[in-house]
Amino acid sequence: MRMNKTVYADRRARFMEEIGTDGVAIFTAAPERSRSADTHYPYRPSSDVLYLSGFEEPETVLVFAPGHDDGSFIMFVRPRDPEREVWDGVRAGCDNAKAMFGADEAHPIDMLDETLPRYLEGRHTLHYTLGNDDRFDQKIAGWMNKLRYRRGSPPAAPRLMADAREILHEMRVRKSAPELEMMRIAARISSEAHVIAMRTARPGLHEYEIQAAMEHHFRRNGADFPAYTSIVGTGENATVLHYVTNRDKLNGDDVLLIDAGCEYDFYAADITRSFPVSGQFTSAARDAYQAVLTAQKAAIQDVAVGVRYNELQERTVRRLTQALIDLGALKGGLDESIETEAYKAFYPHRVGHWLGMDVHDVGSYYDAAGEWRELEPGMVVTVEPGLYFPIDADVPEGLRGLGIRIEDDIVVTAEGRENLTASCPKEIADIEEIIGTLH
Ligand code: GLY
Ligand code: MN
Ligand code: MN
Repeated sequence: MRMNKTVYADRRARFMEEIGTDGVAIFTAAPERSRSADTHYPYRPSSDVLYLSGFEEPETVLVFAPGHDDGSFIMFVRPRDPEREVWDGVRAGCDNAKAMFGADEAHPIDMLDETLPRYLEGRHTLHYTLGNDDRFDQKIAGWMNKLRYRRGSPPAAPRLMADAREILHEMRVRKSAPELEMMRIAARISSEAHVIAMRTARPGLHEYEIQAAMEHHFRRNGADFPAYTSIVGTGENATVLHYVTNRDKLNGDDVLLIDAGCEYDFYAADITRSFPVSGQFTSAARDAYQAVLTAQKAAIQDVAVGVRYNELQERTVRRLTQALIDLGALKGGLDESIETEAYKAFYPHRVGHWLGMDVHDVGSYYDAAGEWRELEPGMVVTVEPGLYFPIDADVPEGLRGLGIRIEDDIVVTAEGRENLTASCPKEIADIEEIIGTLH
């Protein structure tokens, strides 16, 4: 927990104000997952639990029961266990859940079945997200039944179930000043790593060597994880959107597409850069790159308070479709190519997504009326147009096997926008200079 404790306390207070004294909410930390035999993937609790508590241990359940006699914020945590702690490290235990993490009451997780129903009892609405964890869903059903069918007492189970994400994710979609501070750090480290990649790449190296140089920079700067599996795709690998094998050798005539960002204090950066391994774009690659760059810069300028999320995509589709016609990849007219979605053969994804604790962050893209929502100050979106030409596409030869995406992370501000990743070079002259100086 690197953020100030008051940040978490303020969030909990805001959340509990929303659910009210007749509501109760439950969040679980996500189970540990085994990777191979008895080894596990590095553990990361669900972002909702981190957002509300900063508590990083597995087997954690947060309960919010505003006004309950035990207190409003209750944590179920792993109990202290000297024997296990020799193997797995120190546990906070119940005492520190209260002293350090602000719980009003804390129970050992093995008391869940006996203890949790008392917080549901007599509440009107249960805020919980079904469908994330089947085993926990079953537990909820069991507790509800127990409270519904009590011999000799009236039913006391909540009568309404609400999706806990509705309130919490609406809070998470607008980032506060301390959150933006973390995102600036994640963005800075990740931008530096992309420059390192440009300086490192040369013909004969492998994609994984570039990945290693970048992830080395993430970790030595205090980032806990890559925010997602790094994509390092050279040549035609760059046309595969989620290419993560990262084993091929770089050729001098390749464009290398790298989509990599780190997670710092649980906040993600998400950056893509595409550059020529040789340090010089071929003429066809240069034209395609310049088209994507122009569309990307225009889309960043489109980010503003009041613009509907979908407008960013619609305007980008128009710009990229025109570019595809100019590059000779599409034969039809502009309106026709948009209408028939012919552009999707080369631009199949959206221009961006919310960014925050999750790389594809939570929060609705729609407003209460079901319309695409308007951008508001504090929202963070990626802007990441791209063009991808499969090796066997019916396009001018110089474009075949070329994948180009350029991605920055943009905060919506009252005045306009802040580009968190502005320090990551993307102008042709800048990237050719960085690569060229060392080859
Ligand atoms: N790195 C995933 C994305 O750009 O959406
Ligand atoms: Mn990305
Ligand atoms: Mn992205």
